[in-house]
Amino acid sequence: MSDGLDPLPPFPSTLPPPAPPAPAGPVQLRVMVVSAISRDSSSCHVLGRLVEEMLAEEPGVSVDFVHPSDVGVPVNDGSVPDDHPAAMAWQQRVAEAHCHIWISPEYHSGMTGAMKNLFDFLGKEPMSGDVVGLVALAGGGMAALNTLNNMSVVARSLGAWVAPEHCALSSNDVKAGLGEGDIRRLRAMLTSVVGMGRRVYA
Ligand SMILES: Cc1cc2nc3c(=O)[nH]c(=O)nc-3n(C[C@H](O)[C@H](O)[C@H](O)COP(=O)(O)O)c2cc1C
Repeated sequence: MSDGLDPLPPFPSTLPPPAPPAPAGPVQLRVMVVSAISRDSSSCHVLGRLVEEMLAEEPGVSVDFVHPSDVGVPVNDGSVPDDHPAAMAWQQRVAEAHCHIWISPEYHSGMTGAMKNLFDFLGKEPMSGDVVGLVALAGGGMAALNTLNNMSVVARSLGAWVAPEHCALSSNDVKAGLGEGDIRRLRAMLTSVVGMGRRVYA
């Protein structure tokens, strides 16, 4: 039975075509990899170096690897002057990055104090709109979830976008050599961060 109305055009013929994907663009994407531990035998530091290598394989990406003693800021106990040279150099270094990969072991259910201290020298400006990927390490991979959540809250507080592909890994597995599944998850997170960084900054 006809209702007398014209048939609707087939969905979605009236919609505009989707925008073409953004080109890779001339922008050299700068990714800062932050290891929460300075000791180079630590699983955190080892993983940071691996992430640095994986990112360096991406075309158009340059990597800045940092750890707390390399940054060299004092403990921010509220008495450090705003124009402290190490703090200003750190703020400038962060501002030059488009994306950030934060890697920390779980220390009492959060990132290490040394890593948090780095972020306590930043206002919102240096990381505003940047993309952050998170990796946390613990004795067992699941145990690091609190640390991922802790890092996520801090990253958002600094005005950054947090990639949804968190990575919780076992520090023992990092030392023994990560399996294929862990490498795949890590790569998926890095690809997501770099892809989003290109969309934001291309
Ligand atoms: C002060 C401190 C607190 C820690 N707290 C936790 C914790 O809450 N949960 C956990 O699974 N591991 C905890 N760990 C273990 C670390 O997450 C991690 O497995 C270990 O530090 C890795 O050692 P590495 O740096 O030699 O590779 C803690 C370690 C330290 C030194």
